[in-house]
Amino acid sequence: MADLKKEIENRRTFAIISHPDAGKTTITEKFLLYGGAIQEAGMVKGKKNSRHAVSDWMEIEKQRGISVTSSVLQFRYEGKCINILDTPGHQDFSEDTYRTLMAADSAVMVIDASKGVEAQTRKLFKVCAMRGVPIFTFINKMDREARDPYELLEDIENELGIGTYAVNWPIGSGKRFKGVYDRMDDEVIAFEGADFRHEVKAQRLSIDDPILEGLLPEDQYQTLIDDVELLSGAGDEFDLKAVHEGKLSPVFFGSALTNFGVEPFLKKFLQMTPPPTARTADIGVIDPFDPHFSAFVFKIQANMNKAHRDRVAFMRICSGKFERGQDVLHVQSGKKMVLAAPQQLMAQDRSIVDEAYAGDIIGIFDPGVFSIGDTVCDPKHKCVFSGIPTFAPELFAVVRQKDTLKRKQFVKGVEQIAQEGAIQIFREPNAGMESVIVGVVGVLQFEVLEYRLKNEYNVEIIRENLPYEHVRWVENDEDDFDIKKLQLTSDTKIVEDLKGNSLLLFTSPWNITYATDHNENLRLADFSENA
Ligand code: G4P
Repeated sequence: MADLKKEIENRRTFAIISHPDAGKTTITEKFLLYGGAIQEAGMVKGKKNSRHAVSDWMEIEKQRGISVTSSVLQFRYEGKCINILDTPGHQDFSEDTYRTLMAADSAVMVIDASKGVEAQTRKLFKVCAMRGVPIFTFINKMDREARDPYELLEDIENELGIGTYAVNWPIGSGKRFKGVYDRMDDEVIAFEGADFRHEVKAQRLSIDDPILEGLLPEDQYQTLIDDVELLSGAGDEFDLKAVHEGKLSPVFFGSALTNFGVEPFLKKFLQMTPPPTARTADIGVIDPFDPHFSAFVFKIQANMNKAHRDRVAFMRICSGKFERGQDVLHVQSGKKMVLAAPQQLMAQDRSIVDEAYAGDIIGIFDPGVFSIGDTVCDPKHKCVFSGIPTFAPELFAVVRQKDTLKRKQFVKGVEQIAQEGAIQIFREPNAGMESVIVGVVGVLQFEVLEYRLKNEYNVEIIRENLPYEHVRWVENDEDDFDIKKLQLTSDTKIVEDLKGNSLLLFTSPWNITYATDHNENLRLADFSENA
């Protein structure tokens, strides 16, 4: 038991979010460097034209240089066991980000110091705010000309509506970025050298240390003294509770590229970010220290490794300990199963794990039984975690296979990709699968579908975009409710999702109002917890 407590207390599970190019990949790599998981930086990303990250799996990601799916990296640092959940930067995959955040206990938001809050930062932040997760800010690229630090903080507060607390303060920027002042320890961390591949050396000096005056040009020294005075007079107390409630974001400055400020950030962040947090299930709040194993599936990914043609369900352990070969209950199917080969991932390298604890993410080979949001638990202590909401798609298209002889592969491909949550599929009631209606949040998801069907299932498709922009799930389940009798505008379409739930597709908000105005008992929902 003591072991269980210690193991769980030492876990830190978080996601990194950023606008593309702000430096998420670089900082992830530097965390791995400091954690000793890689020996040298620069191994993760290749040359520009073969640009890809450790955490990028799919060809399409490499080609486009964007991260489509989220992956998980685990490493140890100062006795802590760290799980980093990578998230796609592109807005078209924000649903995937949302699901990933369900598995995280906090998020690190990386911001480019010359740009401040960007479009995608705003969108991803919103997704975090919906979950109320603690958000830590790393203002990156201080080795380049940066915006004024006060202005950057203001930008975050105004644009995102969250309070900020600068935990450290930059000393200069661009070539003159010399270090940071750590407000909590009241000392200056002066960086030395420029070997970006290895850990950077730093001196910790008290603010009145005469060495400091010698280290910095006169004007920079004076600015630092003024800044420290200004900050200490600001009167804002650091409030960890507000951080944990997602109301205050601790801010750090640094440069992932030069390693300046990476380690000070990692150390403080790991002290401040919470250990595995409790999750809500049907039987109440599940404490992570509860010895009975429980987990939920937040992501399913097929064909991660072309050679294996497999499908992996990723689950976040919410309580207790998992041991290899242990009997578990898959609550949604009511089936007992043995999770024989759970895996943990270090990007492409998988290793079989013998045990894992609350806070960890494990990947399980999925024979096709798991769906996103499913609960897996100790058969003697059944619980059901609340589902993961499905976002309402905003773009729709009819998709069919070019070659009618490939119908089987087409159906399999489309269904599997939909089960992963990469797209949503609908069909007209009683219709077959000759063609399906695909719904997505962002247009890139269509491209991914097309690409994957061709590469993984050898099926080429024809896509015809549909004019619908809004979807609503019909919640009525009364015996005498007949969807066909609804009064709807002629351009409203009735469809079903994979689980047989009824939905309505609309071309405009006006048509939604028409439906609710003309059908008194109609109950519509704009997301579904069990789609
Ligand atoms: P992302 O995952 O958020 O999309 O960003 P990524 O880390 O891939 O970084 C985007 C670009 O910004 C890369 O340059 C990277 O080297 C650079 N970068 C990241 N952190 C810093 C930093 O602290 N300072 C500076 N100056 N640059 C930084 P690239 O030219 O696109 O690629 P590369 O050829 O340099 O690898």
